[in-house]
Amino acid sequence: MRATDTTFWNSDWYPETVVECHVWWAAPLTDPHAYLPALDTTERARHDAYQREEDRARFGTARLLAKLLLGREAGLPPAEVELDATCRECGRPHGRPVPVGLPATRPPALSLSHSGDRVVVAVARTVQGALSAEVTVGVDVERLPPEHALGLPPTLDGVLAASLDEEERRIVGELPEADRCAGFLTYWTRKEAVLKATGEGLTAPMRRLRVSRPGDRPRLLRREDVPDGPRRIRMAELRPGPGYTAALAVLLPEDAADGWRVDLRIVERSAERVLAYAAQRPMATLVG
Ligand SMILES: CC(C)(COP(=O)(O)OP(=O)(O)OC[C@H]1O[C@@H](n2cnc3c(N)ncnc32)[C@H](O)[C@@H]1OP(=O)(O)O)[C@@H](O)C(=O)NCCC(=O)NCCS
Repeated sequence: MRATDTTFWNSDWYPETVVECHVWWAAPLTDPHAYLPALDTTERARHDAYQREEDRARFGTARLLAKLLLGREAGLPPAEVELDATCRECGRPHGRPVPVGLPATRPPALSLSHSGDRVVVAVARTVQGALSAEVTVGVDVERLPPEHALGLPPTLDGVLAASLDEEERRIVGELPEADRCAGFLTYWTRKEAVLKATGEGLTAPMRRLRVSRPGDRPRLLRREDVPDGPRRIRMAELRPGPGYTAALAVLLPEDAADGWRVDLRIVERSAERVLAYAAQRPMATLVG
């Protein structure tokens, strides 16, 4: 075989990389005292700034759950787990939460989302293969509006035009009326999960992303401004329960070779017991 023989490298020779992602589902806690002790002063200020009680509960529950899960791995009480949520656009603390200062050499990737009665926390890391590979994760859940069976409300026209391209809008329009809202939110959650995994959030135009259609396996098909985007994104559909739609995306490192074989393993769980356990004990004792 000559050194220039390009057939020499066979993708089967790359070790399989396993990315494990634990997805924890919870209902917002109704008693603020259950989560307030876990919040730092920045988080407390954000919490207090929410006008509506349900927004405060979703925010506080997500933070508590994320800190409980990360603290359990690191042997720290939740209040000692720091999440840096500095927005990379404006510097305010409403961006992607990144665990900082954990004793582990490879802190996991984290993503949070909340909507209606659902709070979801995704924790991802590589567990086999390219173990040093840093992945990031994005999760999104959206509640279907109560009137969703009546089709897409006209108030969504602007959002639809801004987030879906012509072809995607046509696909949603051709769905039976009762499925159009869910179809649109499937596109939305898939795109938002990708943009959360990349850390851009809604600062990036959703229309530039093309994702697979509702009913098909979730995939990023095209990204106009990032030609190699689809190669680095792996996606999964989640099961948030009736009345909700949710998606998850994992971003692989830049040097992910074309031949990388990636197995994305999703474990979905209810966080009910974790939160109930935490509620029964003083927070400082919740270590490991
Ligand atoms: C992040 C964003 C996509 C959230 O969408 P949403 O459907 O309203 O809310 P979700 O519950 O699904 O997700 C919110 C969570 O996403 C996370 N998040 C925020 N910015 C993020 C980013 N750039 N990348 C990844 N995750 C992000 C946070 O954990 C946030 O929850 P928290 O603040 O309670 O911790 C959207 O609000 C956004 O892009 N915001 C930034 C854009 C913006 O407001 N720019 C103007 C000021 S710089």
